[in-house]
Amino acid sequence: MKKTTLLLLFILLSATLSAQKSSLHREDIFTQLLVEGKPFLILGGELGNSSAACTQDIERIFPKLQRMGLNTVLVPAYWDLIEPVEGQYDFTLTDKAIEQARANNLKIIFLWFGAWKNSMSCYTPLWFKTNYNKYPRAITQNGKPLEIASAFSDNVRQADNRAFTEWMKHIADVDKTHGTVIMIQIENEIGMLESARDYSQAANQAFQAPVPEKLMNYLQKNKKKLHPQMLKKWEAQGCPRQGNWQAVFGSDIYTDEIFMAWHYANYVEELAQTARSIYNVPLYVNAAMNSRGRQPGEYPSAGPLAHLIDIWHCGAPSIDILAPDLYDNGFKDWVAQYHLHNNPLFIPEIRLADDDGVRAFYVFGEHDAIGFSPFSIEDGSDSQQAPLVQSYGKLKEMMPLLTQYQGKGVMKGLLFDQENKERILHNDDLVITCRHYFTLPWDPRATDGSKWPEGGGIILKISSKEYIVAGSGIVVEFAKSTEKASGNAKELLGEDGFKLKGENEQHSYTESKKFQGKRCGLGSVDEIQINPDGSFGYIRRLNGDQTHQGRHVRISVGDFKILHVKLYEYE
Ligand code: DGJ
Repeated sequence: MKKTTLLLLFILLSATLSAQKSSLHREDIFTQLLVEGKPFLILGGELGNSSAACTQDIERIFPKLQRMGLNTVLVPAYWDLIEPVEGQYDFTLTDKAIEQARANNLKIIFLWFGAWKNSMSCYTPLWFKTNYNKYPRAITQNGKPLEIASAFSDNVRQADNRAFTEWMKHIADVDKTHGTVIMIQIENEIGMLESARDYSQAANQAFQAPVPEKLMNYLQKNKKKLHPQMLKKWEAQGCPRQGNWQAVFGSDIYTDEIFMAWHYANYVEELAQTARSIYNVPLYVNAAMNSRGRQPGEYPSAGPLAHLIDIWHCGAPSIDILAPDLYDNGFKDWVAQYHLHNNPLFIPEIRLADDDGVRAFYVFGEHDAIGFSPFSIEDGSDSQQAPLVQSYGKLKEMMPLLTQYQGKGVMKGLLFDQENKERILHNDDLVITCRHYFTLPWDPRATDGSKWPEGGGIILKISSKEYIVAGSGIVVEFAKSTEKASGNAKELLGEDGFKLKGENEQHSYTESKKFQGKRCGLGSVDEIQINPDGSFGYIRRLNGDQTHQGRHVRISVGDFKILHVKLYEYE
């Protein structure tokens, strides 16, 4: 065979192999996950901690996940069960998870529960736990040893990395041609508890040493792009170019946290490089939130938190994403903190709740998220009416459309509850008023004292006169900005469209000025399905009562729909 033919064959073969793996495609302002060469959104769920610990559970759970409409399952890999005897490895559970994922049309994200799981080292094997002289513990400020392996120990890192290496090699062996495993999470919710940093002897020595040149150079080079909290801390010291940790960042608990984050990141980088060299899939780390006014050490200090992104980026450049685990109130604020110019939003864990259905819509629309994944997913319902099942069904259909418009600035996410009921968008000369469905007082659940489920969705501008409105529990009105400017106060109408009189009357109709300009009307509202090639398939025309006789577009609470809206103007 000629040299050129051989070369061609080689290129073809490597293209085939690499097309089967997953990768991140980074543009200036957004990042796409590519799976089998195509943009992909993770409609995921994470298994409960002990739900992948026997083959029978995996066999029982995975078919349910398929019925729930997931395309990806996040599966823990337990160091203690993988290396129960030092140097002897058992990959039975990993193999079973991969087998079941393939059988149920799922992708896998494996979570390496190695040295740390929620700060602690409970997943380290017993031979590791008991040999605490060789594998030392982190120590609190008061000298108390913790069941947290010390990040300053070479022995700890080497043992963790050795097991991780063998496991990664195994995954590469069984998965390289399939590409079932699309990402790896390294460790789980790393962070120091009780004290903001480790006070072991090795840690204390490192704390007195100068801040490494690599980090100092990074801060200087990226000064304009640093996280505001990091910049503020450095500036408060006069932006020194060298010195020990306290000289550079000040003497407080947040400096302890920065120091600790640097060392956790360095540790993780070693595992990340291992993964890269064996099986090059995207890598991420997850963080427990610094919520409810807690201080470092009260929350897991030094994890991959938004305010520490620069430390993690510099210390662990092979990690692609810092991902938030969301169990607290303030969902919208948290997700905004993790969708940064240098970090795509991926939510590997969120409390399993009915509101997750609309929250998933919100993050894909508002934040170009690459994935969403409620925790303990196997406890969710697989009824086809369950909110998450409906939501994932529609989002799966919409994937060609959402990935086509990801990062183009034409999508918005909507999310409403009883307190935050309205959002007004301005597009071209349109004012688009979006509200919770229960702002229409006609549904008894709106006013009978029941707690409103969250309503939310995606509003996508296809052209100036064409929109997609999708989600659940929302109502959207389109008006020309000239209509609003005409001082034409909006009246509240009954469901029949007649003026309300009596107890429900909230404000009366007043036309203060002569109306001028154009108005916007609903040309048509069609419920559609999105075909795999991204084209629209007609389901039914919505009109009459379903659009309040042409006044608005709506999707009731409990239903998930995709609507294709065509607008027109008149005068
Ligand atoms: C976050 C952790 O990452 C999970 O493994 C689990 O412990 C949940 N918290 C809480 O149930």
